[in-house]
Amino acid sequence: MKNKKWKSIWNQNAKRKKSKNLQDLLSLNGHFSPTSNINVNDWNNYINHFVQKYNITKKDNILEIGCGAGAFLFPFFKKKINCYGVDFSKELIKHCKKFLNPSNFYVREVNNLKILKKRNYSYIFANSIFQYFPSEFYAKKVLNEILSLANPKTKIFLLDIPNKIKYNEWKRSVIQNIGKQNFNLKYNQVKHRFYNKEFFINYCKIKKYKIKFSPQNLIKKENSKFRFNIFITK
Ligand SMILES: C[S@@+](CC[C@H](N)C(=O)[O-])C[C@H]1O[C@@H](n2cnc3c(N)ncnc32)[C@H](O)[C@@H]1O
Repeated sequence: MKNKKWKSIWNQNAKRKKSKNLQDLLSLNGHFSPTSNINVNDWNNYINHFVQKYNITKKDNILEIGCGAGAFLFPFFKKKINCYGVDFSKELIKHCKKFLNPSNFYVREVNNLKILKKRNYSYIFANSIFQYFPSEFYAKKVLNEILSLANPKTKIFLLDIPNKIKYNEWKRSVIQNIGKQNFNLKYNQVKHRFYNKEFFINYCKIKKYKIKFSPQNLIKKENSKFRFNIFITK
């Protein structure tokens, strides 16, 4: 139910906005809000961090789950890296198809990624999407689907995950930025899900995958202070 609500919110936002450049894709993906206001330069640096640190090249296939309008993948695509993406918003996927290779994008919920199974992905990214999942059970299904697409060399990045121990700090910061009334309007019906690191540690232990955490300090935005990044390998 909560999932349907988020889906209609993302579809409605996408219908209202047109896209002509990366800035518009960022806005479509919700990166121009009071707590997540990102400029194009910082965004390109964010992507370049991964390209340089992990030596991502034209030979690689990268997949983003929850790609929205394609803002995260677009800078990779400009470097001629093969990009694939999936998102449950058909309105947002239309923008991916306009800016990137149209045959590489799918409208799907990320708890069922069978349509993507045929390829060899060197990197799988999920950026700023885990907060929208309706339950930890759902998040586990998504992790299972990600692992089912991975090969032993695939590097998996789960980025911008809301940290449960920082929930109260986050709430204070949002209220400071948009006011209590708007906070209640925005988050009473559809809430962001926050996670304990243990949730991911336990999952990886069972699946025999290695996991590393880092603070989300790769991109400047108000809510980065309350989030962490995860790097998973076999
Ligand atoms: C904040 S946007 C992030 C988009 C992109 N990853 C980025 O970093 O620019 C969140 C995206 O997750 C998608 N999304 C949320 N829950 C989803 C689900 N269960 N299945 C597929 N897509 C989902 C939304 O449609 C939206 O495009």
